[in-house]
Amino acid sequence: MIVLGLETSCDETAAALVDGERRILAHRLLSQHDAHRPYGGVVPEIAARAHLDHLDRLVGETLDEAGVTLADLDAVAATGGPGLIGGVIVGVMTAKALALAGGRPFVAVNHLEAHALTARLSDDVAFPFLLLLVSGGHCQLLAVRGVGAYRRLGTTIDDAAGECFDKVAKMMGLGHPGGPALERAAEGGDPDRFALPRPMRGRPGCDVSFSGLKTAARQVLDRLPPGPLSVRDRADLAAGVQAAVADVLEDRTGRAMTLMAADGGTGDSPTLVVAGGVAANRTLRARLGGLCAARGWTFVAPPLALCTDNAAMVAWAGLERLRLGLTDALDFRPRPRWPL
Ligand code: KG4
Ligand code: ZN
Repeated sequence: MIVLGLETSCDETAAALVDGERRILAHRLLSQHDAHRPYGGVVPEIAARAHLDHLDRLVGETLDEAGVTLADLDAVAATGGPGLIGGVIVGVMTAKALALAGGRPFVAVNHLEAHALTARLSDDVAFPFLLLLVSGGHCQLLAVRGVGAYRRLGTTIDDAAGECFDKVAKMMGLGHPGGPALERAAEGGDPDRFALPRPMRGRPGCDVSFSGLKTAARQVLDRLPPGPLSVRDRADLAAGVQAAVADVLEDRTGRAMTLMAADGGTGDSPTLVVAGGVAANRTLRARLGGLCAARGWTFVAPPLALCTDNAAMVAWAGLERLRLGLTDALDFRPRPRWPL
C-alpha cells in the first residue's frame, strides 16, 4: 500500500509518500518561517499563497524521487483541518485533483489525528496509549484506543504550550517560531532566578493553562531595565519559562497516567507518546522520560522531524484510515475547526 500525503494547514508546505511497511519512500518540506518572521507570527494570506506557489513542485519531486506514479498510489491524503483555512483549501483541492486524475480514493486527515498516529509510523506503537499532544494550537492529553477512538482526558483552558512559548519569545524579541528560539536562549540559564507560576499544578483533573505564565513573564520583563535584554536575563527568563511549562505538563501527564491506569485502559504495556511541535523540546522530553521511568511506563517520542508539522504523518494517518475503509468523498469541505 502506498499513500501520498499533503500538509498545508499552517506554515509548512509538505508532501510525502509512505507505504504499509511504515517506510517513508520520499518526502519534501518547505518551511515558510522566513516569510512570516518580519510579522512575528504566521500571516494566513501569505501562508496560503506560498502553499499554492510550491505544493505542485514538491508533490512532483516526491513522486519522482520514489519512482512512483499516480497509478501506483492507493490513496491521496491531505490535512482537511483544523488549521488556517486558506492553506487547508490549497492542500485539499490539490489532493482531490490528484485523486480524481489518478482514479484513487481521497482521504481527509484530521491534523491532530496525524500527530496522534505518528508514533505508530516511527515506532510501531500498539493501541492503546496515552498521548500528550503539544503544539502551537493544541495542548491535550488523549487516551488513544484506536484510529478514530480518542478520549480526551485534559485540554488547555486558554493558550496551548507552543503558543505560550511563541508569545513569550515574541515579547523577549527572540523571533519566530518562538519555541526553538526560546529553547536555544535557555541554554545555560538559571530556571530558578525569576519566580514564575505553575498554573493548574496539583489541581484535580488533567487540564492545563498557560496564560498566567505568559502574564508573569511580561511582568518580569517590565521590571527589568528597558532596552534589549542582557544575555544573562534572556537565558534566565527563557530557562524559567521552559521549566515552568515542563513542570506543568509533567504534573498533568502524571495525573492522566494515574487516571488511565485506574480505568484499566492502559493495556498490558502502559505507553506514553508525546507528539506535536513542542515535543521537540529536549527539557520536556527529559521530564516525560523520567516520569515514565519512575512509573514503569514506556516512553515514546518520535524523531524531531516527525514531531513538528510534516506530510509523512498525514500520509500515514491516511494509510491507517484507508486500511479501515475510511475514505472521503470529493465534496469534503475543509474544516478550520475539527476537534478530535
Ligand atoms: O505541531 P507544530 O509544528 O504546528 C502546529 O501548531 O500544529 O507545532 C509548532 C509549535 C510552535 O508553537 C513552536 O514554537 C513549537 O511547536 N516548538 C517548540 C520547539 N519546536 C517547535 N516549542 C518548544 N521547544 C521546541 N524545540
Ligand atoms: Zn501540528
